[in-house]
Amino acid sequence: MKNSNILNNDYFCLIMRIDIISVLPELLVSPLSHSIVKRARERSLVEIVVHDLRLYGKGKYRQVDDYSFGGDAGMVLMIEPIFRLMEDLKKERSYDEIIYTTPDGLPFNQKEANRISCLYNIMILCGHYKGVDQRIRDHLVTRELSVGDYVLSGGELAAAVIADAVVRLLPGALTDQTSALTDSFQDGLLAPPIYTRPANFMGWKVPDVLLSGDPVKISGWQEEMSVDRTQKLRPDLIDEPDKD
Ligand code: ADE
Repeated sequence: MKNSNILNNDYFCLIMRIDIISVLPELLVSPLSHSIVKRARERSLVEIVVHDLRLYGKGKYRQVDDYSFGGDAGMVLMIEPIFRLMEDLKKERSYDEIIYTTPDGLPFNQKEANRISCLYNIMILCGHYKGVDQRIRDHLVTRELSVGDYVLSGGELAAAVIADAVVRLLPGALTDQTSALTDSFQDGLLAPPIYTRPANFMGWKVPDVLLSGDPVKISGWQEEMSVDRTQKLRPDLIDEPDKD
């Protein structure tokens, strides 16, 4: 379901819910408790709940992982605890997307963050160890996302990255609502350089145009700088703009 409230600036209207499933919930506490995400939670723009998968594990040791069939090295998250936890969550609300964080997922980028920010209820399953039983990916997950071509120790930091990038886009999360629009990648380009006082630090000067007070000249310069930086640093964004 699309979130039609996305342009509604009513700060006290809860517009998004993110449920995160993890075997290491502590890893998610700090990244989601500061700065913009903290403010968005305080303003009830988003409710983020982290669920400890181990509570759904069976036996004395609350087992949630097991050896893989076929004998590959490494432990695999079992289907049963994940299924039961997801079923409990689904009793409370229907989910627009059930995301699994994995290095072999689709690349997570600004376009994807924008898309997710228009949804209401999101579940994120954090991979761990070797990953999860393939049947979870085949039957329960609706989207598989990677935050980059490298392997993290688990999907928790990836889930935090995704939640952070999405939450800052919610109306009211940023103090200056337009600043999300001037972020790098929002128009397919890197952001221009920015400066603050002093205008001259030991002879290192702020470009004159930024001190000119002429908004047309300033935005022209910023656009030029954006294109220039993108050509130099990320030519792929210009060559293949709709790659993802
Ligand atoms: N888990 C481990 N590495 C990851 C990555 N690069 N992206 C998402 N989840 C991951």
